[in-house]
Amino acid sequence: MDQAQTKRIVLGITGGIAAYKAAELARLLVKRGIEVQVAMTEAATHFITPATMQALTGKPVLLDQWQDANGMAHIQSSRVADAIVIAPATADFIAKLASGLANDLLSTLCLARDCPLLVAPAMNKQMWANSATRRNVRQLAADGVMLLGPASGVQACGEEGMGRMLEAEELAREVAALLQGSDSLNENSLTLALSRRERGQERELAGVKVLITAGPTYEAIDAVRGITNRSSGKMGYAIAQAALEMGAQVTLVSGPTALSKPLGARAVDVTSAAEMLAAVQQNVAQADMFIAVAAVADYRVAQPSAQKIKKSDASLTLELIPNPDILAYVANLPQPPFCVGFAAESEMLREHATAKRIKKNIPLLAANLAQNAIGSDDNELVLFDDAGEHLLPRADKLTLARALLHHIIKLKFNLQI
Ligand code: C5P
Repeated sequence: MDQAQTKRIVLGITGGIAAYKAAELARLLVKRGIEVQVAMTEAATHFITPATMQALTGKPVLLDQWQDANGMAHIQSSRVADAIVIAPATADFIAKLASGLANDLLSTLCLARDCPLLVAPAMNKQMWANSATRRNVRQLAADGVMLLGPASGVQACGEEGMGRMLEAEELAREVAALLQGSDSLNENSLTLALSRRERGQERELAGVKVLITAGPTYEAIDAVRGITNRSSGKMGYAIAQAALEMGAQVTLVSGPTALSKPLGARAVDVTSAAEMLAAVQQNVAQADMFIAVAAVADYRVAQPSAQKIKKSDASLTLELIPNPDILAYVANLPQPPFCVGFAAESEMLREHATAKRIKKNIPLLAANLAQNAIGSDDNELVLFDDAGEHLLPRADKLTLARALLHHIIKLKFNLQI
């Protein structure tokens, strides 16, 4: 492999007993022609020696931020890396990553990165199940960090359960797949292995093309003002993430949000409903499934002003005209993909949702109470389809997204999962 093609990773080792597996991981990665720069936390050195890691990778191990003359190892190392892989990642280190701390070399390196971050958790089952860890893991997933594992099995402490680090072979395969795909992120070679390993499932949506709209739209009034809504985009992004985990090829058409795009999704950023419709029209022909989660503004200003409207004492009237209904447009194409709508209602959920599903001519509608859903991390959904209604009880949005996709798979592909 020539120098330009050589892939480089930083392998971060944190202080857990699974650190011994990092030696085998480093060996397997080097064997695949990947350049491995190891960085260890102080605690990790109590489990495995830097000398071992140096011998396996042929490079001195990065240990603390003060070791090089100008103290810039974190910037230099993350600048040349194609990915950072933390294996094992302790509960403590995951908490650090989730809160953006940078108080040692490895965490600083992660914060300063401009490349994918893969994290292989390893810890006792109680620590993995602890609500603080669950929260931190969710945060990492929301930040676009890829979680590899953990797996279930016998643990170093003698207990059995979830929290065991994936085997070096599996990790090496995942890392190599990421590095191959990093030249063409659109091809969705990225996977979030967490849930499917947790649930012992293979990738149920492999090869399925899913088009998703998410977030609010922004309809300009003038050069600086506009009409928008409080949609955060979290539900649509969670569905994109869950679909990626299941192997789907995801196109995410997103209005303005503060969220990081799930890694591996093809992202199309839009502002207004008209732009969202155009992006959907460009992508819908290839889609097997269309999930309209966006809170599209129902109206736009008839004649937005190119300049900022000056204040005066006179009253101001804006004429609003209806926006196109993107979901109804897709659902009424001659050969529509499988269409799923969302409805946020503030009252009479069942009545409004049922009527909306029929009016929009869609097989499935997911409804929630707007006051419970907008902006929050949790939600509760009621699914309406030909067979009736199904409650997806209150859970975080990624869990709900997975349950929704499973429901769709059952309906559409008649699969039992
Ligand atoms: O009619 P209502 O706005 O409540 O319908 C909500 C559903 O329709 C959502 O799935 C939303 O993404 C979609 N929608 C759309 N285009 C619009 C309005 C809503 O795709 N203009």
